[in-house]
Amino acid sequence: MDGEFGGNLKQQLKKLFDESLKLTVSDEHGLEPLVAASDAKFRKLGDYQCNNVMGIWSILKPKCSQFNGAPALGQAIVSNLPTSELVKSCSVTGPGFINVVLSAEYMAKSIENMLINGIDTWAPTTSVKRVVVDFCSPNIAKEMHVGHLRSTIIGDTIARMLEYSKVEVLRRNHVGDWGTQFGMLIEYLFEELPGSDNEVVTTIGELQLLYRKSKRKFDHDPVFKEKAQHAVVRLQSGDPVYVKTWAKICEISRTEANKVLQRLQVKLEEKGESFYKPYIGNMIEELNNKGLVQESDGARVIFIKDFKTPLMLVKSDGGFTYSTTDMAALWYRLNEEKAEWIIYVTDAGQKEHFDLFFKAARKAGWLPDNDKTYPKVNHVDFGLVSGEDKKRFRTRAADVVRLIDLLDEAKTRSKAALIERGKDKEWTLEELDQTAEAVGYGALKFADLKNNRSTNYTFSFDQMLCDKGKTAVYLLYAHARICSIIRKSGKDMNELKNTGKLALDHVEERALGLHLLQFSETVEEASTKLLPHLLCEYLYELSEHFSKFYSNCQVNGSTEETSRLLLCEATAIVMRKCFHVLGITPVYKL
Ligand code: ARG
Repeated sequence: MDGEFGGNLKQQLKKLFDESLKLTVSDEHGLEPLVAASDAKFRKLGDYQCNNVMGIWSILKPKCSQFNGAPALGQAIVSNLPTSELVKSCSVTGPGFINVVLSAEYMAKSIENMLINGIDTWAPTTSVKRVVVDFCSPNIAKEMHVGHLRSTIIGDTIARMLEYSKVEVLRRNHVGDWGTQFGMLIEYLFEELPGSDNEVVTTIGELQLLYRKSKRKFDHDPVFKEKAQHAVVRLQSGDPVYVKTWAKICEISRTEANKVLQRLQVKLEEKGESFYKPYIGNMIEELNNKGLVQESDGARVIFIKDFKTPLMLVKSDGGFTYSTTDMAALWYRLNEEKAEWIIYVTDAGQKEHFDLFFKAARKAGWLPDNDKTYPKVNHVDFGLVSGEDKKRFRTRAADVVRLIDLLDEAKTRSKAALIERGKDKEWTLEELDQTAEAVGYGALKFADLKNNRSTNYTFSFDQMLCDKGKTAVYLLYAHARICSIIRKSGKDMNELKNTGKLALDHVEERALGLHLLQFSETVEEASTKLLPHLLCEYLYELSEHFSKFYSNCQVNGSTEETSRLLLCEATAIVMRKCFHVLGITPVYKL
């Protein structure tokens, strides 16, 4: 027995191969076996492969006479493999691939163990303790657009994957609440609506109108522009009249953003740009003492090799920039919050900004030179969303997309589809509403997460709400169907979990079981590579495996009923965990 039923097959196998390799080639250090689930074309030979024996052999060949080729080395590695319940058999094929067939008994026991002790026993393990995920982060008074929706959905899933792996995640909303737009907004209010004590602007719609009007004036009226710039300075120096109006404007935006976040069930803590203001002075001084800050046309900048424009710390008028705040925020996150990994989720358009400021932080010695060791930073970028006409994304009603309208429409459409299927007659109004919400928002999230995040995608309600193909609707159906199979059996699953035995005798049972056991390593891979679509892919394949199993293996009323019901239950549990990590609410009937 290996002592524990860790869900991560890959890690367990890697450990076995590590030990064998040490025994087989004891004087060679630093060799790493590469273990991976077998590609489709090798699956007949085994479930996993160690596929770098040829590479290891090419290192050994010049100095080793013990083996006469990679296949022989492979054989030796196989014979030195420590005995383990996990492995049924191994074979060496072709130029030296080692194929591993897992023991179905062991697999079955691992799944039984998860059923008894819960899916958290399959959580990936990591040495990282605290991570900042900086996501959503809209700009106050400006439109919270579909890019912020992508950031919110992707960032939330990354946070959830890490939380499942028992990492403490600081979810940060780095709202743009300190930019130059405030000068123009406040100045406009003071000029056009004097004495109103800013009670005229109370809703987000009014605020956006104010933004547009003041921006027009700012762009066309040089006198106003100058006044607006002064207003920023007054605000930044803490003038109470300006600060009061600023706070009011922030509050309106915050209320609107919170509505979206609440609907999406995304938790976030706001630490906006203004929060880091007190840290800017010391931060610049530290960089200055390190000799990194230079004068350039009256501004204070850091030059970075290979970048045409330097990182602007202080503008010639004394103001700070987006980059200044990001440097101060990074300092704070590393030194005050003691985060080991800081993940920024924004559109790909900001790549250059992050490249530049990460390089500056490396130059300052805040981060190690390589991007493998901690503390680590990553820019999680994503592509654009376009409308079905391939143009800029807009809704029918307005020329900019209000996120709340988007959510409303997703819900309305999914509700209409449920009513069309007669669910309004079967369910209570509350059930109908909750299901419509779960399906509608789930569809929206999944449609975003399923694509490799770097690619652009086309937003289509029809596609995302389709009940076939890679959609949340299809997956939620698959889950509800499993629940109904279990319900129809009339069995008490809690009792069955503790008394029943699970077997993986049929090929489809075995294939499904193996896929279930690969959940943990999939989450691990998706969180290490910061690629949520890998988990979507996994979930889709899981439902495909289940379909194959269900159409080949009778469950209710068969002699294998207990075992197969347990397999159904395990599938439903893993599906629910996937939904949870993707921020989707599962439904039990559809
Ligand atoms: N407010 C920015 C925007 O809307 C995103 C902020 C991202 N986070 C950061 N630390 N720069 O584009």
